[in-house]
Amino acid sequence: MRVFDFTDAIARAPAPSVVHGLRRDSSPDPDFEKLRAEHLAYVAALQGAGLTVDILPPLDAFPDSIFVEDPAFVIPQGAILLRPGAPSRLGEREHTRDVLKRHFGQVHELADGENADGGDVLVTPKTIFIGLSKRTNRAGAEALKAALKSLGRDARVVQTPPAILHFKTASSLLDEETLLVTRAMADSNVFEGFRLIVTPDGEEGAANALRVNGTVLVGDRFPQTRELIRKHGLSVQSLAVTEIAKLDAGLSCMSLRW
Ligand code: GLY
Repeated sequence: MRVFDFTDAIARAPAPSVVHGLRRDSSPDPDFEKLRAEHLAYVAALQGAGLTVDILPPLDAFPDSIFVEDPAFVIPQGAILLRPGAPSRLGEREHTRDVLKRHFGQVHELADGENADGGDVLVTPKTIFIGLSKRTNRAGAEALKAALKSLGRDARVVQTPPAILHFKTASSLLDEETLLVTRAMADSNVFEGFRLIVTPDGEEGAANALRVNGTVLVGDRFPQTRELIRKHGLSVQSLAVTEIAKLDAGLSCMSLRW
């Protein structure tokens, strides 16, 4: 099975509080109904790609909880309950543990002081990249690396370029040898041995694409990137991400997949 072949996913419906989600700048609040429509279309795309999606109920107390990828990490071999680096998101893990246990049985957990967001973890066939960032500290990255080793996967701790929220804000896997990356990520030289497709100027947000089975999901605001991926021989589905992007988020953030 290839690392982008999935049968299952977990997502969480957005709560009205999502409009108060974290963001780095003073972007206007997203529109709740439009954001909900983007989320519904996203879940439909996963289902259309053949995945069974377990949709968790909204959590009004946690505005960013729609971004289920951050408090947990899953691969077919097992699940790890992470410890998000943003204090307002730490409580999401208490609402994530049970669903992980339901699907995976035993769940590894990071300990106090070990912060890691799933958005900083990029799975490739040979190695799993863990990006140090404002959300993922050295202790969290090393603990996650050890947990992955116990699941039979090698990981590499690398530095996320400055000013990038999450490692996967700026990188995604397109196929076994190819990554879609921003120029800043390409220049960081962490991806030795990979073919890199660099997002055109102004389309940096496209780098958070999501390969799901035979299709690459890409934001609808990024026509040049979609064309580059098509030229590379892959099928592309575009999805609206305008409201989600106001919360510094993208397509990988809204599901856990295995
Ligand atoms: N708004 C997504 C995050 O900052 O975690």
